[in-house]
Order: sequence, then C-alpha cells, then structure tokens
Amino acid sequence: MIDTLDAILDDASRRLTQAASDRRSPMHTPVVATGDADARVMVLRAFSEWSLRFHTDFRAPKVDVLAGDPRVGVLFYDMAENVQIRLRGIARIERDGPVADAAWEGGTNFARRCYLGEGPGTVTQTASSGLPAAYEGVEPTDEELIPARANFAVMLVELTELYIDDGYIKDVTPLSGLSKLKVLHLSSPVADLRPLYGLTALTELRLKGAKATPADISALQAALPALSITAR
Ligand SMILES: Cc1cc2nc3c(=O)[nH]c(=O)nc-3n(C[C@H](O)[C@H](O)[C@H](O)COP(=O)(O)O)c2cc1C
Repeated sequence: MIDTLDAILDDASRRLTQAASDRRSPMHTPVVATGDADARVMVLRAFSEWSLRFHTDFRAPKVDVLAGDPRVGVLFYDMAENVQIRLRGIARIERDGPVADAAWEGGTNFARRCYLGEGPGTVTQTASSGLPAAYEGVEPTDEELIPARANFAVMLVELTELYIDDGYIKDVTPLSGLSKLKVLHLSSPVADLRPLYGLTALTELRLKGAKATPADISALQAALPALSITAR
C-alpha cells in the first residue's frame, strides 16, 4: 500500500507515461467522457504532467460537443493490477499549429488513412469501417493523403482534477507538476497532507477516508486559507 500523496501521484504519473508509450498497456485506451453524458474509447498518445494528448477526426461528434462544453472525464483501468485512475480536465481541439503538425507527421500513412473517407458518425446501411473501399488494408500515398490532413486534429486535455481511490498502489516523487490542479478527491488512506501546501491553484479538496487528523487538516487550511475542504 502506498500511503503518501507524493507516492500516489508519482505512481499515477508513471502509469500514465507507460500508458501513452506502450500499446499493450491496459491503460493505453482509456474511456473519455464528455459533458453530454457520452463516453468513448480513445488511444492515449502522450502524457506529460499533467496533460494528455489524443488524436481525433475533426468531424467526430465529440468535437462539436467539446466546443460547447470542454469538460472531460478520463478513466483508465488496469484490471490485472486492480487500479483505476480517474481524471477530469478541460479539452481543446487543435487542427493546426505545431502540436497538430508534429502529431500528423509522427503517424504512418497506414494510420493516416483513417482520416480519409466520410468521417465518424456518418450513417450507413451496413456495418462499415468508414474507410473508402480502396484503402481497406491498403497504405495510401502521400498525395492521396492530402485531403486527410484537414480532417485530423489533436485533442489536448489539461487535467484539473484527480481522484485517488482506495486500491491504489506503489512508488515516490514531488507534486510540482500538479501546480494547476484545482480539485482533488482523496479517498485513499493518505496520512501526509503537507505536499498539498504548494498547490496554490487548488480550490477544493474532498477527503473521504483519508488518515489525516483534524490537526493535519487545520494546518493545511492555514497554509491554503482559500481552500474549501470537505472531510468525512
Ligand atoms: C480501440 C479503439 C480505439 C479508438 N481510438 C480512438 C481515438 O484515438 N480517437 C478517436 O477520436 N476515436 C477513437 N475511437 C473511436 C471512438 O471510440 C468513437 O467511436 C469515435 O471517435 C466517435 O466518437 P464521438 O461520437 O464521441 O466523436 C476508438 C475506438 C476503439 C474501439
């Protein structure tokens, strides 16, 4: 059992780094939920403390949803280790610019062919991959892919909330990267609240079942007077 906040956050960071780089990681394909109570599987392309990068077709229905409400929840689950990581953040879609360009350049033509065709959400009479028949299992040329680039976008999620639940496991390091964290839900048996003192952007802390004593909570409140703390 890991029982300091630093250790838990380092563990989450390590797992997300692995999830982005390892196609076989069970956390490589999290579920991303949007504010319209819809959810879908997406491939995690990159993680850096504390933001996520996904790729999407610009014509996908979630792009419109995010334009109206950029909040997302992202759920990662490793069944073998019995660990879930629950995050919330603010998403933005970028079609152009250095991040989108680099992400497009980083793909293979075979992968890029997914951005040809009529786009996600198109209604068909029969089950379909959405790809034009000519590109089923076939790698397009650079020239054939020119129209696909306009359909490609990155979805960047700035993480603002992290849930730390019971059942969480292992490791060690500091909290500096979480300087933008606004809300923390803590229901693991965390004893040491001192790492939270530096989180000046934190507006809300919900403690459920943490081992923190009333004195620990008072000390935290003194360090961060504007912080709303709920403990039960
Ligand atoms: C294994 C798997 C991986 C997927 N990866 C992505 C992805 O990285 N990006 C994406 O936009 N959709 C991905 N999809 C498709 C989405 O789950 C979803 O069906 C599609 O994006 C349309 O979603 P929307 O209606 O929410 O826009 C994936 C689906 C599966 C089954």
